[in-house]
Amino acid sequence: MSEAAFRLAGELANGGCPSPGPEARTIVAHVLGIDQSRLVLIDRVTAQQQTRIDELAARRVAGEPVQHLTGVAYFRHETLKVGPGVFIPRPETEIMVGWALDRLGERTSRRVVELCAGSGAISAAIASEIGGVDLHAVEVDPVAFGYLSANLAGRGVELVLGDMAEAFPDLDGTVDLLIVNPPYVPETLRPFLPSDVVDHDPGLALFSGVDGLEAIRVVARVASRLLRPGALVATEHDDSHQPAAMEVFREAGFVDVTPHADLTGRPRFVTAAQPIAGR
Ligand SMILES: C[S@@+](CC[C@H](N)C(=O)[O-])C[C@H]1O[C@@H](n2cnc3c(N)ncnc32)[C@H](O)[C@@H]1O
Repeated sequence: MSEAAFRLAGELANGGCPSPGPEARTIVAHVLGIDQSRLVLIDRVTAQQQTRIDELAARRVAGEPVQHLTGVAYFRHETLKVGPGVFIPRPETEIMVGWALDRLGERTSRRVVELCAGSGAISAAIASEIGGVDLHAVEVDPVAFGYLSANLAGRGVELVLGDMAEAFPDLDGTVDLLIVNPPYVPETLRPFLPSDVVDHDPGLALFSGVDGLEAIRVVARVASRLLRPGALVATEHDDSHQPAAMEVFREAGFVDVTPHADLTGRPRFVTAAQPIAGR
């Protein structure tokens, strides 16, 4: 690590940042405009670069996410534009996308809908990691939609600014896979969330009714409408909600309702299938 990144890591650690080493490398590489792998080749930074590093360090210690300082977030193989007003994609979601890619790989028909698309991380990964996908994504927040449009420009994805409840009526009964990372934090937990989450991720991306399951109930209704018989739905949920989320899909008439964990072993997403008549 360069001297500047080493010193910054110490400052971030003293400031209470949870990942001081990686964040210091990210910030210094961003200011220098180089790939992190080249930091070892840098002996010293200019006074101007040091001033910029100090400014960003102060903002990070004050609680701004490092992704807002650099303007980018990483998700699977994607580099996405992010900033204030859009949810920062989380690594927990990557494994659900891996599950979806595996299922799509088993099918020849690949019409996919993403609800609650935010920055477009999920759709971007699907668009770039598997071929022959007819992809459609919806996002209700105009600010988030701006990031979605920028991140998916030129990838042939249909993007809609609107409420997922009414999205894509023209696709009813024709979709092979629906995927969503919806808002799922109970409103009652708002006062207890860490300030770096509440102050920097939009409320619309986080909270979903008193019990945190409002959006997942809508997802089940939309999936019933959009999916063809035998098609699949995958939704992320709060780690304390897995039995309740599974119940939402069973009550909505889905079959093969299956719990999944994320890479840390926490309950993280549920999948289900649209029933096939007569089976
Ligand atoms: C948890 S974020 C997920 C964003 C992105 N899919 C990801 O994983 O990074 C949830 C997103 O759902 C959007 N959203 C909330 N309610 C919605 C609705 N009724 N219709 C469409 N999008 C909605 C929010 O604006 C936010 O961008």
